[in-house]
Amino acid sequence: MSHRALPLNTHFTDIGPLVYGCMALGGDWGGGPLTEADIAQAHAAVEAALDIGVKLFDHADIYRRGKAEAVFGELLKRNPGLRARVRLQSKCGIRFADDVNVGRFDLSAAYIEDSVNGILQRLGVEQIDILLLHRPDALMEPAEVAHAFTRLKAAGKVAHLGVSNMHAGQMGWLQTALSEPLVVNQLELSLAKLDAIDAGTAFNDPQAATRPGAIGWAGTLEYAQRHGVQLQAWGSLAQGRFNDPASSAAAQVVHETAEAHRTTPNAVLLAWLLRHPAGIQPVIGSGNAERIRACADATRIQLSREEWYRLYVTARGERLP
Ligand SMILES: NC(=O)c1ccc[n+]([C@@H]2O[C@H](COP(=O)([O-])OP(=O)(O)OC[C@H]3O[C@@H](n4cnc5c(N)ncnc54)[C@H](OP(=O)(O)O)[C@@H]3O)[C@@H](O)[C@H]2O)c1
Repeated sequence: MSHRALPLNTHFTDIGPLVYGCMALGGDWGGGPLTEADIAQAHAAVEAALDIGVKLFDHADIYRRGKAEAVFGELLKRNPGLRARVRLQSKCGIRFADDVNVGRFDLSAAYIEDSVNGILQRLGVEQIDILLLHRPDALMEPAEVAHAFTRLKAAGKVAHLGVSNMHAGQMGWLQTALSEPLVVNQLELSLAKLDAIDAGTAFNDPQAATRPGAIGWAGTLEYAQRHGVQLQAWGSLAQGRFNDPASSAAAQVVHETAEAHRTTPNAVLLAWLLRHPAGIQPVIGSGNAERIRACADATRIQLSREEWYRLYVTARGERLP
């Protein structure tokens, strides 16, 4: 099986394999007003994403301290046809430190509902398609999350609920309180962040002790596939870390593979994710229109099993078995 044309999740059969992440849109993180240059950059990036077939646009209330959503809202306002062409996903639950409080996670019902109102206001829409709980909150109570989601759904503000950065145990526990299935789990996953894959290959192997990052991830990919939770990979371009072939053995192999397929290193990084049978959707975080367009190649490339493993083993820096 190669990368799937459709996600596993039956709610979103029209979304396609690539998602665009909007964290690079909206200018600085400092809280200044949006500029026309910010709007032009966002417009170019969104057009490039649409050109390569992206439908789902990933946000979070915290990106650029609200300005990523605000600039997208401005694009929606200026382009009346745009809303019908996109699906909108956003996240809540991270609270930055301020003069009084430390940085923290907050999945209380009141905070979730307040956050969604802010998201809708900045985007200038009445509903988002998917709300993700951005990170696990140590004080999370599933019944409270369920209460908030029920109210948001009844009000027509959120269509579906998903999570981000949660392991299998957390997903299963939360699901017990919900009357609807969780539809997405967005995790950091790339050749630079292999924990989710290592969790499977290191099990019952003496090398497990050398893969401590993988421990908490046990069963996470399996849970998602078994329950139809669409996996999304953030950091899918490894934040540019394989850009220079001389920087590491893994970067060298990424570049060699790109040459063999007559494509770019970024397309290889995405194709590596798409080759996994879980139907993982890479979330592309580049704010550069040209780089976004070049990502289209990822859906054209078919990595062989041997190429996939060569990339994986070189990136993990330790042989198998
Ligand atoms: N759920 C979560 O906790 C979470 C956390 C972080 C991000 N996200 C989501 O995932 C999306 C992607 O995440 P990400 O931004 O961390 O990862 P990414 O897509 O791996 O990296 C994007 C960054 O890498 C740079 N880059 C990519 N290819 C490059 C190359 N060949 N040479 C030089 N620089 C290169 C981009 O610069 P240019 O812009 O100049 O191309 C950009 O700064 C975000 O937009 C957001 O929607 C989710």
